[in-house]
Amino acid sequence: MYKPLRLETKAKTRFDSNALYNKFLELFDSEPLLVRSPGRINLIGEHTDYNDGFVMPAAIDRDIVVGINFSQESHSTLYSVKHNEFFSFHTTNPEKVSSPLWANYLLGVVRKFIDKGHAVKSFHCVVDGDVPTGGGLSSSAALECSFAFALDHLHKFDIPKLQLILIAQWAEHHYVGVMCGIMDQFASMMGREGKAFVLDCRSLEYHYFPVDMKECSIVLCDTMVKHSLASSEYNTRRLECEQGVKIIRERYPEVKSLRDATPDMIENVRDKFTGKVLNRCVYVVQENQRVLDAAQDLEKGDLKAFGKKMYATHDGLSQLYEVSCPELDFLVEASKNTNGVLGSRMMGGGFGGCTINLVLKDEVKSFISKMAASYLDKFKIEMAYYIVSLKDGTSLINTSHLK
Ligand code: GLA
Repeated sequence: MYKPLRLETKAKTRFDSNALYNKFLELFDSEPLLVRSPGRINLIGEHTDYNDGFVMPAAIDRDIVVGINFSQESHSTLYSVKHNEFFSFHTTNPEKVSSPLWANYLLGVVRKFIDKGHAVKSFHCVVDGDVPTGGGLSSSAALECSFAFALDHLHKFDIPKLQLILIAQWAEHHYVGVMCGIMDQFASMMGREGKAFVLDCRSLEYHYFPVDMKECSIVLCDTMVKHSLASSEYNTRRLECEQGVKIIRERYPEVKSLRDATPDMIENVRDKFTGKVLNRCVYVVQENQRVLDAAQDLEKGDLKAFGKKMYATHDGLSQLYEVSCPELDFLVEASKNTNGVLGSRMMGGGFGGCTINLVLKDEVKSFISKMAASYLDKFKIEMAYYIVSLKDGTSLINTSHLK
């Protein structure tokens, strides 16, 4: 059993879904079903999910909320509050579109429902939320998951959550173009209040452990940048890992993915790798082991050791896997000169977004102000920050008090 990781928590849901409910009424003159799905953090285990490895995510107190109800028309209409934009499509033909891009997250989900034989009827849908986009908190997975859950619930198809997770991931692959692993959708759908979990991305077995937030906080520092190579480089990393597996398999046919590779195996075929593939494989194999070791740190209640592993992960992501950027590297480096920081690293796909920091509660204020000041000084950009607490995954929002 894992000992609680001691971190600060604030138990509240921020997003005001009443406004979304009223917007829906105003636009479509009917009462919507409301579904929320949270963003996620990942304590450790980055770029391991699509290598069949281990991750340690949790759902957070920021949601994407979807309002939905049937429509009597032959087409369906989507409305994004954030973009103040409508999009309509023939319900039986949810084609991928070049604009607006936000619609593709939903269209992909509809496509997969239909392909799986579910008779989707026309609907109206309104989308809003407070998961920052481009921040590496998986606003896209949160959108896919809340919509998939809402579409399912509206039609009473009764599709199991695991299937909805896979549908959401399919939408990301085929309608958004990012060949993501399973972590984000899984965390958004399956998160638990006050808990993180270790997920085995091969078997999809998972176990929750409590994150007791008394001593430390989880603070996310948002670089406010998202470099444009993010999705193309992401897909390239995935291909590089597959190339690595091919090379290792020539000597070790039992290796089905980097999850199965060991440092010795890699060492024994090191002269067969070309380009950066060796470094990519070394990172993934190390990171998988790090997640397992980090889980033991938590079991022992050794947050210092856990924090050190966060730094080691960052070094690997920056130097071997090459998915960091100057802004992220700067924030992680700066954290080392700040009191009360146990660990810091870039989080998520990379090339921008947030760092995740484990900070002693008493030092949180001064940590944030020091980081913000030095970031502003260096990049002339105002850093955003989020002190997160852990929440339940995708769920219906009770609207009975609104009716
Ligand atoms: C993105 C992807 C995830 C995962 C992370 C990196 O968030 O969507 O599947 O690969 O990057 O760990």
